[in-house]
Amino acid sequence: MDGQKKVTAIVGTYRKGGIIDTAVDEILASAREQGALVEKIHLTDTRIEFCTNCRTCTGQTGRERGTCPLSDDMAGILDKIEQSDALVLASPMNFGTVTAIMKRFIERLICYACWPWGAMAPRKRTRENTKRAVLISSSAAPAFLARYTTRITGLLKQAADLMGARTTGVLFIGLAARKQHQDIGARARRKARRLGRKLVQ
Ligand SMILES: Cc1cc2nc3c(=O)[nH]c(=O)nc-3n(C[C@H](O)[C@H](O)[C@H](O)COP(=O)(O)O)c2cc1C
Repeated sequence: MDGQKKVTAIVGTYRKGGIIDTAVDEILASAREQGALVEKIHLTDTRIEFCTNCRTCTGQTGRERGTCPLSDDMAGILDKIEQSDALVLASPMNFGTVTAIMKRFIERLICYACWPWGAMAPRKRTRENTKRAVLISSSAAPAFLARYTTRITGLLKQAADLMGARTTGVLFIGLAARKQHQDIGARARRKARRLGRKLVQ
């Protein structure tokens, strides 16, 4: 690459044009204005199988991610992520956590850890976090309540860490289910813009 930063967003909402999608667009537009190349991946447009706990990927040694025997879109998505400088991970809160489609994606990130049979717990392959990440979530509940009484941002942060990204910002939009078509609001828009700039500076 010629110095141009690349930002990839992984979007776990089921609603295009909804709260999460709009917030992601704001962040990406802001990053693009700073000269970054951006890509948005809607998980609903992809085919990602469930991790079967076969441990093929985690049984492999080395710093590179383990190879998964499942044949779907996951390897292509992870290649794009590895070629990126910054990530956006976005999911609405459903039943107190990320959406099922985002959780299915996150479970497949176990390929970034070594965990042979017999070992008590997985160990991340590399310590360095060379990328940056911004996390976005939204909830029907007020933001402070949803954010601090659940593990949703912790889970997204853990996912970012596995992909080699240090979290540099969180945008949590509360009261996000008042209308079918609801604007994210001027405050969230401003914060999204700021986080987008920070992501690539
Ligand atoms: C199946 C389902 C479960 C939900 N669970 C919660 C929840 O546990 N807490 C909450 O505050 N909002 C919950 N919501 C509301 C969503 O978080 C809210 O509609 C969403 O953040 C809006 O984002 P979107 O426009 O991208 O879909 C739920 C919505 C659905 C459809």
